[in-house]
Amino acid sequence: MIDRREFVAAVAAGVVSQGASSDVRQHASSVLRLMRQGSAPAINAARLNARLKELSAFGANPQGGVSRVAYSDADRDGRAYVMPLMRAAGLDVRVDVAGNIWGRRAGTDARLKPIVFGSHIDSVPEGGNYDGTVGSLSAIEVAQALAEQQVRTRHPIEVVIWANEEGGLYGSRAVSGQLTAPELQNRAWSGKTIAEGVTFLGGDPARIGEARRARGDIATYIELHIEQGGNLEREKLNIGVVEGIVGIRQWEVTITGFQNHAGTTPMDQRHDALLSAARFVDMVNRVVRAEPGRQVGTVGRIQAFPGAPNVIPGKVVCSLELRDLDAAKIERLFATIGNEARRIGEADGTTFDFRPLHENVPAPSDPAVREMIEQAAKTLGYSTRHMPSGAGHDAQAMAQLGPMGMIFIPSIGGISHSPKEFSTPEDIARGASVLLGAVLLADRR
Ligand code: HGY
Ligand code: MN
Ligand code: MN
Repeated sequence: MIDRREFVAAVAAGVVSQGASSDVRQHASSVLRLMRQGSAPAINAARLNARLKELSAFGANPQGGVSRVAYSDADRDGRAYVMPLMRAAGLDVRVDVAGNIWGRRAGTDARLKPIVFGSHIDSVPEGGNYDGTVGSLSAIEVAQALAEQQVRTRHPIEVVIWANEEGGLYGSRAVSGQLTAPELQNRAWSGKTIAEGVTFLGGDPARIGEARRARGDIATYIELHIEQGGNLEREKLNIGVVEGIVGIRQWEVTITGFQNHAGTTPMDQRHDALLSAARFVDMVNRVVRAEPGRQVGTVGRIQAFPGAPNVIPGKVVCSLELRDLDAAKIERLFATIGNEARRIGEADGTTFDFRPLHENVPAPSDPAVREMIEQAAKTLGYSTRHMPSGAGHDAQAMAQLGPMGMIFIPSIGGISHSPKEFSTPEDIARGASVLLGAVLLADRR
């Protein structure tokens, strides 16, 4: 393994050319060029921020932000916008059977596994302009900066734009082997099933197993992302070094009562599914807050059937989501919620059914990758803090395949999954510069 520091010293001393192997000499020439320029590679901040603005046009909402949900026309158009940028950055671009977009450039040492970096460009409904797009376009910018400044990395580099991150890490979990066949029938916000959506993006659900990569098939995965919380801004810090990413489990909850006439059914003879649902929502909040910790629980979607003012709802379908860094705590909370739901049902004459939707396993980041991010940020003169991620990310799927690290930049007001989501161009440029530095440090390993 070549240690870059010794390497640079050797190059400076001009000793490298005596009988060094071809890849060492080739690497030396790129380092020499850098030394002659007297500058390390740097990103083009104006280009990056201009591209973020251009990408936000796809699925733009009149009130600001985007609804570029996975597998929608806007998602397809946003992907058609970023792929030529990847090619212009000198990457060989392909779409895998799960719909993920990969851009690859060979390194000088064909024996080495790739350094992978990227994020997603699909959004939640009425989402913001920065969630996922900052990491995606910064990854492309890093690749382009390296190409333009003739820096050949030893490792191959792969820039990835994940498919359907927001629905539940579907693209990255196909690659990590965590996606299950029944999930392909889940329905996405676009109205398509996952299988239909993957096909829409140019993938092939029947062959989705071929997207799978083995543990050890990547050298490092690094993702830049907005914090989606308010800690960095509040503490006036530039960069978050992510310690770990929460586990997320989601269920579809069906509450069944008895549909009846709202005018002629006495109040004490009703089996009102929506009344049970109201009790359920309040109970989830109470159970999750009953113990110390950073766990969170949310009912984010609810629909009553048949949904007429003069009909007692016979059925309610809602979502349940639980998150924590500890999978066992999620399991424990779910067991309590299930027991309490049964008690609500016994009292109201209704029943509760929980259908698992998907699970993102909690993932610690890799200490060595955290160190690279920290070193890159400090070298650039940026302030940092270590912190967990309460948001889910494709990086937690990639942690199944190799060492993972995440870089956060401040979210103004801590707001995300909202048209009010905002990060400053300066913070975005800082994040991309740290990503570039971390990639170069990872290339030393
Ligand atoms: O939901 C999340 O935490 C992420 O933004 N997909
Ligand atoms: Mn995201
Ligand atoms: Mn998100």
